[in-house]
Amino acid sequence: MKRTFVCCVGLTITVIAAAQAANAVMKAMVVHEFGGPEVMKYEDAPRPEPKDDEILVRVMAAAVNPVDSYVRQGMFAKRGMDNRPAIIGYDISGVVEKTGANAKKFKAGDKVYSYLSVMRGGGYAEFAIAKESETALKPKNINFEEAAAVPLAATTAWQSLVDEAKLNAGQTVLVHGGSGGVGSFAIQIAKARGAKVIATASTAHQDLLKQLQVDQAIDYTTTKFEDMVKDVDVVLNCVRAEALARSYGVVKKGGIIVSITDEPDQTECAKHGIRGSRLGAHPDANVLEELTKLIEAGKMKPIVSQTLPLADASKAHQQIETHHTLGKIVLKVKEAPN
Ligand SMILES: NC(=O)c1ccc[n+]([C@@H]2O[C@H](COP(=O)([O-])OP(=O)(O)OC[C@H]3O[C@@H](n4cnc5c(N)ncnc54)[C@H](OP(=O)(O)O)[C@@H]3O)[C@@H](O)[C@H]2O)c1
Repeated sequence: MKRTFVCCVGLTITVIAAAQAANAVMKAMVVHEFGGPEVMKYEDAPRPEPKDDEILVRVMAAAVNPVDSYVRQGMFAKRGMDNRPAIIGYDISGVVEKTGANAKKFKAGDKVYSYLSVMRGGGYAEFAIAKESETALKPKNINFEEAAAVPLAATTAWQSLVDEAKLNAGQTVLVHGGSGGVGSFAIQIAKARGAKVIATASTAHQDLLKQLQVDQAIDYTTTKFEDMVKDVDVVLNCVRAEALARSYGVVKKGGIIVSITDEPDQTECAKHGIRGSRLGAHPDANVLEELTKLIEAGKMKPIVSQTLPLADASKAHQQIETHHTLGKIVLKVKEAPN
């Protein structure tokens, strides 16, 4: 009789917990219709449940990247990326809330940061699903807002300079767009590897280039980089401008142009005896672990120029669409003890 009672109570609690989980809601910025920044609505959304190989992260902060606005506008929908009502956002930092049955790398309570696949997203929300292969422990010496600024942009910089260009100590790299999200990490990664760094930015952003200790800062509004630079080993092109077309002649024979925007012209590359590569970044927990090491060693620090509440994501998108953002914009999702 007593055992039956305990069983019934246990079962009732389990059923209630399951029902609560099924009905659980969270605040999120939701896209129902593709369009301008105003289409994102701050509203209740179902709280996601992790599958066996996933973790559920209580999001403390999410960063904004140019790709967020491309997805919001529906630019990727043609490629089958239409999971509306959609929650965009690919950079998160937070605390592990729950782990799937086969997710063994992290435990509840771990402070983590993740680069969520652009195919899934989900970062602009109080809870997000991450794969272990997209996640690493958050660097201990930076807060959640700074940590959220790292994954996508710094991974792109790492995969461009380290994996693709194989940048080595003593080599010279020219970074177009040194004051942006990717560029500001690229400068620091290149310096940490012992390379000489030349970077371009507008007049207003020359101070950041100096703060990041570039060896040569070029104001692209007053100076043509091709008049100042020659024989670099690597060009990293982070801008959507004519900079790429003017870069072929500044690379030494055998060198490489890595562009994260437009495709390099292979005929021009062949003419100059150089390689040209268009890099598409992808989440990689091993890269995040390398970035954590650099940050904890004091060799790299995210530049966060603006922090806004999650509900103001539309304002953040207006800013990112100027293509003149300094460092990173971060959305604060929850007040957190750092
Ligand atoms: N392929 C990939 O996997 C991948 C990954 C990440 C990003 N991306 C793309 O790469 C680009 C950069 O990304 P991001 O996150 O760094 O963007 P971002 O943070 O918005 O970059 C803004 C920066 O670009 C600089 N800039 C704009 N025009 C410039 C020019 N003509 N010359 C030099 N600097 C210029 C701005 O400096 P001033 O304000 O001083 O002009 C600003 O600091 C975007 O188009 C993004 O979509 C591609």
